[in-house]
Amino acid sequence: MTRSFNLRVFGCQMNFYDGELIRASFLKRGWVETEDINQAQVHMFHTCSVRENAEERVHGLLGELRRLKKNDPSIVIAVIGCMADREGEELFEREPHVDIVCGSRHFPKLPDLVAQVQGGEQRVCLLGKAEELVDEEQRDLGGRVAGYQAHVAVMRGCDMNCTYCIVPSVRGRVESRPQPAILDEIKRLAQGGVTEVHLLGQTIDSYGRDLPKEGRPSLASLLDEIEHVDGIARIRMVTLHPSYIDQELADAMARSSKFMRFLPVPVQSGSDPVLKAMKRGYNLDMYRKRIDLLRDAMPDLELISDWIVGFPGETDDDHLASEAAMREFSFLQSYVFQYSPRPGTVSYAGDDDIVPQQKARRNHRLLDLQREIAKSKTPLMVGKSSQILIERPDKKNPGYWFGRIHNGHYCLLPSRDGFAPGQVYDVDLVDYNGKSLIGADNLSEQQVAHLAASTPDPKISEFSV
Ligand code: SAH
Ligand code: SF4
Ligand code: F3S
Repeated sequence: MTRSFNLRVFGCQMNFYDGELIRASFLKRGWVETEDINQAQVHMFHTCSVRENAEERVHGLLGELRRLKKNDPSIVIAVIGCMADREGEELFEREPHVDIVCGSRHFPKLPDLVAQVQGGEQRVCLLGKAEELVDEEQRDLGGRVAGYQAHVAVMRGCDMNCTYCIVPSVRGRVESRPQPAILDEIKRLAQGGVTEVHLLGQTIDSYGRDLPKEGRPSLASLLDEIEHVDGIARIRMVTLHPSYIDQELADAMARSSKFMRFLPVPVQSGSDPVLKAMKRGYNLDMYRKRIDLLRDAMPDLELISDWIVGFPGETDDDHLASEAAMREFSFLQSYVFQYSPRPGTVSYAGDDDIVPQQKARRNHRLLDLQREIAKSKTPLMVGKSSQILIERPDKKNPGYWFGRIHNGHYCLLPSRDGFAPGQVYDVDLVDYNGKSLIGADNLSEQQVAHLAASTPDPKISEFSV
């Protein structure tokens, strides 16, 4: 009988990366994946605790499985990741039909935990620090959804203590992966057709600082090494913490032709009193200095930020300071979150005193402003040259492919026979249609003929999720 599992992943990109590892560990043992929850013998939820609504969604979906489990008690239900770490054994009280609670540092053992439950054990729970690093073994690429993009964990955990954030308590302290293991993984991905890697870490610019001093790698040294990996055209990274940005890193980014000049450096708030209450470790002026360092090295750099609105005690003036900061740093993209008190964090003890309507209003104001800023910036790229990584044929503009240029702006490129997702072309930015730039690839007749004759590699002609 085939054994089938259903895996649902929530939260940050690290969880999606972990999801690929979980999938690989089951596929390798002969399991098959199914989208149909009525078919699956094992149901896995890889979860997120960063805001309350992320957890409530999972509780809602778990509720839907109650009847299924009643009809067929042999099905196995596992809650994995940050919610498992945060709620621990209490999860069994609220969701008695759950069989496995598996923390974010233990998921490589999931197939064994499932076997234990199928062997008759009840309420299997594995939490906290693990003896082995999650990324100890060479990554099995068998769980990847084929595509030109790939995630690669560079470090796990977080050593910061932002007062609102659950991540350090659920994910633990920073553990950097050895540089050779990361490079080996990227090389193997490139051989499989990947052209764009996303390096992942909660404070990725602190990479290496927890490793022994002798021969210690850094994000700068890692970038220098990836530059030499054939096939990789673009390097993206999530997320930098302003405190760890230094000249060495700015220089390494500037000399890398592959590093995409589109970088998340979340500021969270533009108000010094709020930043202090958040214990972010910087004030706005310190943030400004780090951004200056980056922009001096890379004048075309575009930035992405996260913002929290409605932090306890945030006044109208504090909010206006965030709007002013959004303008000043001229972000190209922003993610705005309404403050959500998380049990166990420092700010949970304080009043969640900004009413929901006010949070929603501030949220909308920031998003509207972000849209306005992005719209004013993109047309300024017309007349310049860049590089585009093409993603897919554009639905709204037949005859064009959609992609982003090297510093993140949207761009459309007239189609050519032989185009495939993940290919990179030099482009002149000749126009702007109100949303995207229009590029011209300036390929020679010979290059066009060569492109048309080459059949795209099937490995990269599917999209990743
Ligand atoms: N390590 C990254 C962020 C990881 S969490 C950094 O420090 O920038 C992703 C985002 O979720 C954060 O940037 C923050 O904006 C948001 N976030 C974290 N905790 C939150 C909370 N309690 N309520 C609302 N948003 C939160
Ligand atoms: Fe959370 Fe702060 Fe760590 Fe980011 S740096 S994961 S916001 S504690
Ligand atoms: Fe969420 Fe955990 Fe990532 S709390 S944001 S899934 S590290």
